[in-house]
Amino acid sequence: MTGTAVYYSFTGSTEVIAKSFSEKSGFKLFKLEDREKRKFAPAFASILGLGTALKEPLPDIKNVDFLVLLTPIYAWHPSAQMNTFIKKAGIGGKKLFLVGVGAGETNEKAMARFSSKVKKLGGQVVGTKTFKGVQLGKNYKEVEAELLKSGEELAKTTDSLT
Ligand SMILES: Cc1cc2nc3c(=O)[nH]c(=O)nc-3n(C[C@H](O)[C@H](O)[C@H](O)COP(=O)(O)O)c2cc1C
Repeated sequence: MTGTAVYYSFTGSTEVIAKSFSEKSGFKLFKLEDREKRKFAPAFASILGLGTALKEPLPDIKNVDFLVLLTPIYAWHPSAQMNTFIKKAGIGGKKLFLVGVGAGETNEKAMARFSSKVKKLGGQVVGTKTFKGVQLGKNYKEVEAELLKSGEELAKTTDSLT
């Protein structure tokens, strides 16, 4: 099953996974970008389940049936950027595979929250997966090899859904 992947990344690790996934799977790839340049990740808005201003136009997913969404995890929540995208993009009736990237090993709470938001907006969650990203204060280059492997693993997973 091919489709489109949409991601946000602040310190680069989700981006490496998303690009590696797209190369392996052939999925089209879109990056969500903050409207204003930020100094810090928007943890506060994420905890509150709020959105944040993104550069427009947002990726057009009108004719996409299967979407892979990749977001960093902030304080056990999906990013405010991803919140904005799912609210504005029109995900109702679409199949979605959700990916969380965090410093921790697992992020069950965050993924439960992410899934619940998507379902409330009418999306059909066909699977979720978490990957380890970069540790706070570190550079993603230090873990780039693992990030690339994570992208490949994700491509195998989505491939098996066909
Ligand atoms: C303010 C803040 C809160 C975070 N909270 C979590 C968390 O709850 N769980 C987790 O696993 N990682 C947490 N992280 C780590 C990021 O999710 C991790 O570094 C991720 O790989 C960042 O993705 P990016 O490099 O694509 O921006 C947090 C990072 C920041 C800056």
